[in-house]
Amino acid sequence: MNPIEISPEQFKSLCEQFLAIASDYLKEMDSRSIPAKGSGAEIDRIFRAPLPETGLADEALRAFSDVVQHSRAQNGRFFGYVLGSGETAGAASDLLCSVLNQNVTAWRSSPAAVTLEKIVVSWLARIVSCREFRGVLCGGGSAANLMGLAIARETRVTVNESGLPSGPGLAVYASTEVHMSIPKAIALLGIGRDNLRLIPVDNSFRMIPSQLEQAMQRDTERGVVPIAVVGSAGTVNTGAIDPLAEIAAIATQFGAWFHIDGAYGALGAIAAPHKFPGIDRADSISLDPHKWLYQPIDCGCLLYRDANAARRAFAYSGDYVRTLNNDPVESFAFFDESIELSRRFRALKLWFSLRYHGLAAFRKAIENDLQHAQRLGSLIEETPDLRLMAPIELSAVCFRYVRGVHIENDLNRLNSEILRRIVERGNVYLSNATLQSRFCLRACVMNHRTTNSDIDRVVAEVLAVAKEVDNAN
Ligand SMILES: Cc1ncc(COP(=O)(O)O)c(C=O)c1O
Repeated sequence: MNPIEISPEQFKSLCEQFLAIASDYLKEMDSRSIPAKGSGAEIDRIFRAPLPETGLADEALRAFSDVVQHSRAQNGRFFGYVLGSGETAGAASDLLCSVLNQNVTAWRSSPAAVTLEKIVVSWLARIVSCREFRGVLCGGGSAANLMGLAIARETRVTVNESGLPSGPGLAVYASTEVHMSIPKAIALLGIGRDNLRLIPVDNSFRMIPSQLEQAMQRDTERGVVPIAVVGSAGTVNTGAIDPLAEIAAIATQFGAWFHIDGAYGALGAIAAPHKFPGIDRADSISLDPHKWLYQPIDCGCLLYRDANAARRAFAYSGDYVRTLNNDPVESFAFFDESIELSRRFRALKLWFSLRYHGLAAFRKAIENDLQHAQRLGSLIEETPDLRLMAPIELSAVCFRYVRGVHIENDLNRLNSEILRRIVERGNVYLSNATLQSRFCLRACVMNHRTTNSDIDRVVAEVLAVAKEVDNAN
């Protein structure tokens, strides 16, 4: 007897049981408290069980209700970080992805999957006005940023064979608001985090181009090689969009690669293309369909203008993967243009979800997010005890509770206590941003389930919790 194969009938029965659990979760999700119940130790105790020597069969499914109960609810009142809401048509197709178990490494191992990935990548490129770009799907924005900067480094200095050059060094430029994945990538690429030049921002948290130019000039005069400039199309804190066209011109002037981190915001171009002038001047762009295309995690994407540059950075093939085929389509290998070799069929959910709903539905969902963020901004401005702390460019809203407190440190302490209590209550989920040393509450609306009343609840919760804190003092 085959020890681990199950029959198609058993598979179907398992799936039906999974489906019942999943649809019950979806039915009750809206009424659930957002954070998982239980402390770390309690949750650990629930799941800690020995690895069974003999299979538990259907009995193993029992633990699934614990998994659901101790997962964070993904309802319309979750506004933390930059997190998409997990569109469920895409989720349903993910099952087929695992059953087909295609290895999207090269056309010959997965013809349909490679073809679909190229198609969805071309759709994403079209959305951000970069039709001629190629690209790859990956685990997320951090992976895309790492790959973009790896291509940039290999384009400016040849490192892959003989390592980093000695001498005055290399530098990368980004604003002080840049996402943490950029310094991480720079460290991994051996450039050194100290060689990330953090360029000041204006009052709208956008990089100041003249400061960029001065920093690049200073470095060039010292013999430092400017590898890349990173512009943000939606900063993680406030959603600010850097002046991309001006930055592109400066990067070109110094011969540096222009990478755009569009993981948060660039797919907002589906609803608001006018917000991203200059995006088409990039050499590479990171996108995150698991954020503003609401796909289940994971689904990131790197787009690049020059496929040869990507190949210079990544193509290094062992003999066992040699393609014995000269046909340009059939000899194609994603491993020549990306970090991964074995790759998941990420394109399936995106392809299905986009075809199932149509682009207009996503445009509407993103428009709703943008409007919801504006609604929250207006409510904050109408409430004397609250203060908006940054312009709302996309869907991130940074604000503070300010009543009766005028000392910065006290305001920081008060707002961090408000946030702690809000998360604990579980009615809405906010995260935080520190802007010019000011601790702010932050709601990021990237959620196709959010309604106007969910937005109104944010203000009601903050005021209720602030009262609670007042009463406790
Ligand atoms: C601007 C920005 N860049 C990169 C990332 C990283 O994306 P991921 O979490 O998919 O790795 C994020 C995540 O929030 C982000 O907001």
